Amino acid sequence: MATRDEVGAEKQDLLQVRQVRIGDAEYPYRYGAGCIGAILEELATLNADSFVVVSDETVIGLHGDALLPGLRALAPVDVISRPPGEGMKTLTCLAEDIERVLAAGATRRTVVVAFGGGVPGNLAGVIAALLFRGIRLVHIPTTTTAAMDSVLSLKQAINSSRGKNHIGTYLPPHGVFTDVNLLATLPARELRSGLCEAAKNCLAIRPGDLPALREVLAEGRLAEPRSLLWLLECSIAAKTSVTAHDSHEKRAGLILEYGHTVGHAVELVDHRRRGVAGLSHGESIAFGMLVAARISHNRGRLSLDNVRVHDEIVEALGAPTRLPVGIDIEDVLAVVRDDNKRGYLPAGPGQIPFVLLDDLGTPTGDRELPLVPVDLAEVRVALESLAPQRIAEPVGAEVG
Ligand SMILES: NC(=O)c1ccc[n+]([C@@H]2O[C@H](COP(=O)([O-])OP(=O)(O)OC[C@H]3O[C@@H](n4cnc5c(N)ncnc54)[C@H](O)[C@@H]3O)[C@@H](O)[C@H]2O)c1
Repeated sequence: MATRDEVGAEKQDLLQVRQVRIGDAEYPYRYGAGCIGAILEELATLNADSFVVVSDETVIGLHGDALLPGLRALAPVDVISRPPGEGMKTLTCLAEDIERVLAAGATRRTVVVAFGGGVPGNLAGVIAALLFRGIRLVHIPTTTTAAMDSVLSLKQAINSSRGKNHIGTYLPPHGVFTDVNLLATLPARELRSGLCEAAKNCLAIRPGDLPALREVLAEGRLAEPRSLLWLLECSIAAKTSVTAHDSHEKRAGLILEYGHTVGHAVELVDHRRRGVAGLSHGESIAFGMLVAARISHNRGRLSLDNVRVHDEIVEALGAPTRLPVGIDIEDVLAVVRDDNKRGYLPAGPGQIPFVLLDDLGTPTGDRELPLVPVDLAEVRVALESLAPQRIAEPVGAEVG
């Protein structure tokens, strides 16, 4: 019979590791399929005197049994769990949670465990950053967005009453542990949302990964562990390549904003209209990339073939390839005008800083600040070419 050490070693083998370097920060990202036991072995090495698990009710209902009993065997566990959604990313919840864990006896040796998607992940990040001016934070992400995007960032933020992610800070996690099997229960919409961001990484940063992405999409095996593991590796490589010297994502890391200027605007306008039934963040970004690709093409930068690559990938992801019916272009432009990248560049009236591409993987302008001023009129032309009633042909198709 195998000894405990041998069993432990076997479990460790289930975890692959990549060292994430973002500016001066460095942390291990361990991942695998069916590796929750190995993750618990890793958490045991933290020598925590208690754990604070920040999650939501859906995640606890689906996967709490996989984590919590093993964690309770290591140290006392306080579970903070609320109904899912942005509603928990508030100052009120933050204050309640901090008071609660302090009352429960949290110390500097407490470890905050973010268990869930980007929402509990962000709340956990702010709690960990503030408690005793910073205690250890580990992520166990359960959505594609969290596993492939938010845990590969030092940004931790909650919302103010006026907008998203207004209150926050930067905190490197102590480590990230992903078991892609936990992602198997994700509804298709949530699964796709993170994968749209992974696709953005391929188009804007690592076009060499596009053939493999096409294969995964063509085979329709997005939720399979080996696809998710590949997408995870691809996201780690892409994100860390642009944030290695830009921990605050304010220079080279701004390439990650590809598709976000119009994407955010469409997401907001659709949510005002349809609430939670509106487009997901990832779907909106995917559509935003179609707009950015068309602006790039209309400026004589991106080839028509590469615009079509965008269309093909976005369609294969099941994200909208036309502006959804009922979204008014003027409403989208009104939000674009207030985009949060204003201020990075001197831009004239009626202009906004934008990430555009000269080629797949090559931003227009300076790689160290991949933003260029774009006229709102150019955004309007690209949006009009994607209006629902038009035939799906890029503006200026004959130029390519
Ligand atoms: N820090 C960053 O750089 C960064 C980057 C990207 C996103 N974010 C933040 O992340 C948030 C969005 O993240 P998200 O999309 O993961 O949202 P989320 O955490 O709300 O999760 C989405 C939904 O999936 C459910 N869910 C989670 N895991 C599940 C599973 N395994 N099976 C079934 N259902 C599951 C949740 O209960 C929720 O209803 C936003 O608040 C955004 O601001 C931050």
